[in-house]
Amino acid sequence: MSKPPFLTDITALRKRARQQIGDGSVTAGYSADREIVLKLLNDSLATELVCVLRYRRHHFMARGINSQAIGQEFLDHSNEEQGHADLIAERIVQLGGAPDFAPQGLATRSHAEYVEGDSLSGMIKEDLVAERIAIDSYRAVIQYLAEQDPTKRRMIESILAVEEQHADELADLLVSVADGAKGSARWKKSTRARAQ
Ligand SMILES: [Fe+2]
Ligand SMILES: [Fe+2]
Repeated sequence: MSKPPFLTDITALRKRARQQIGDGSVTAGYSADREIVLKLLNDSLATELVCVLRYRRHHFMARGINSQAIGQEFLDHSNEEQGHADLIAERIVQLGGAPDFAPQGLATRSHAEYVEGDSLSGMIKEDLVAERIAIDSYRAVIQYLAEQDPTKRRMIESILAVEEQHADELADLLVSVADGAKGSARWKKSTRARAQ
């Protein structure tokens, strides 16, 4: 049996591409369920926007030991989450959808939560939890897109790589803040002992 040609009917393919030009990059060969993909992407957009806001708040509220360096880290993460949000919004439009930036219901649409945190370590912990949620939900999106939409799958994979990096950085920060607190408690104890 001879191999089927890669493009079964190039004339039909060209005709279809010309007829449905208004669909932009979405062609009739697009096999993923567009509505489901749009919903997944809009949920991811909400997740990123909540992360932008939470990191922003943490940046301005960081206090205590190493708060300057950690506060800067929060700002960097916030800006990177904004970059992800923009990337996702762009893809939603390419798919013929509309990015949902409505503040109403943002926290409900988001997978990650907006938790303010009452200490530096509390903020880092909340950010780490949010990153872990984002990582899990992006893995589910990647699984859904699989081979059906490799372009969007690759985009989500590149975002996922950054979220994993964020989670690693936060895990390290948590240890350094805990060590710093222990160091400072030890220091206070020894100072008190010397003063007596
Ligand atoms: Fe992100
Ligand atoms: Fe992140």
